[in-house]
Amino acid sequence: MDSLLSLAQIWTWDLSSLLKSTVLLMLGSLLLVAVVAKFFNSQVTICKNLTTRFDGKTIVITGGTKGVGFEASRQFLSRGCRLVIGDPDPDHARQVADVLQKDVAGCGSVVVLQLDLSCMSSVRKFADKILRTEKSLDVLVLNACVPASRTKQTTAEGFERTMAANYLGHFLLTNLLFGLMKVTSNSRVVVTVSQLYSLLRNINPTDLLFKDERYTVIRANALSQVCLVLFTRHFAILASRYGVLVNCFSPGFVRTDDYDKSVDFVTGRLRYWAAMVVGRTAFQGSQTLLFLATAGEGTCASAGYFVDCHSRQLSELVSNDGLARKVFEATEDIVKLTKQEKRYY
Ligand SMILES: NC(=O)c1ccc[n+]([C@@H]2O[C@H](COP(=O)([O-])OP(=O)(O)OC[C@H]3O[C@@H](n4cnc5c(N)ncnc54)[C@H](OP(=O)(O)O)[C@@H]3O)[C@@H](O)[C@H]2O)c1
Repeated sequence: MDSLLSLAQIWTWDLSSLLKSTVLLMLGSLLLVAVVAKFFNSQVTICKNLTTRFDGKTIVITGGTKGVGFEASRQFLSRGCRLVIGDPDPDHARQVADVLQKDVAGCGSVVVLQLDLSCMSSVRKFADKILRTEKSLDVLVLNACVPASRTKQTTAEGFERTMAANYLGHFLLTNLLFGLMKVTSNSRVVVTVSQLYSLLRNINPTDLLFKDERYTVIRANALSQVCLVLFTRHFAILASRYGVLVNCFSPGFVRTDDYDKSVDFVTGRLRYWAAMVVGRTAFQGSQTLLFLATAGEGTCASAGYFVDCHSRQLSELVSNDGLARKVFEATEDIVKLTKQEKRYY
């Protein structure tokens, strides 16, 4: 009996010390990962010589009220530009704009206009207002995004919601504003994308809206990013005839203020805490955006994909120029671009 008891004691002791060592090991590894990530983030994400000012220049940004876009807005304003922010909730965006104008020294001016990128009629109204009020457009930043919902959602106009907000709205907006960009010298389009694009090996350019294709959260998120990268490639070719640069970039893994509610409870919280430990700040995430918006003529090529202010290789799928043209032409039909609105021909 005694020997059985002592065996149980040894087992319990062993188990608790094993548990303690495992927890300590895990905490130690987490700390190490956090320190290494912080070190690399601080080394690579501050682009050098971003000193260009934007006095007298006009910048239009989507998703300029939160995260990476908010930081970019702050920096654009501090460099003296006239900034137009398109946002689905203009009252909230106006409050953000007031905060920006109070905070930023050497400030430019900021205008807020209603824009729901998932609704093509809202995109048309937004573009129409800009074309009536602005005389030039130096930089167009396509930065807004929505995470895909767990089940497929269709907008009132009949489009799958993730593709509509992340891709179709930006596609239409760029085409509608291109006439203004053409008459502005050294203008450029900067497209924010996520590395999720690399998850897909193939896409069907005749079914971009999940009519027959099976909808999953990952596929919807990734497809919208693939289409943004392919759009960057093809639009860059069309725009190059008019000297307009078009590039995309990934900000890296950035800390967000909120839990991701589009995924399940555990994944949302894991992503949030992972970003808190190894993620970059929104300021770091916005550096390549600033770089692409400010890089002088001739120093920055078009149709590129950038990370940390350096050009990077794209996956095979999104390097396919034939596919980029097919997707572009299919999207012209989906958003019902008229002949007069195709201003690049
Ligand atoms: N965060 C990351 O780790 C990460 C990683 C890779 C790439 N990115 C890319 O970086 C960009 C910014 O990401 P973020 O995390 O900084 O974004 P975020 O904090 O989630 O902000 C998204 C912005 O988009 C706006 N928005 C949402 N739906 C819209 C709609 N239908 N029409 C117009 N605007 C809309 C939001 O406005 P409201 O707040 O008013 O809704 C908000 O200003 C995105 O393109 C994303 O794909 C981010």
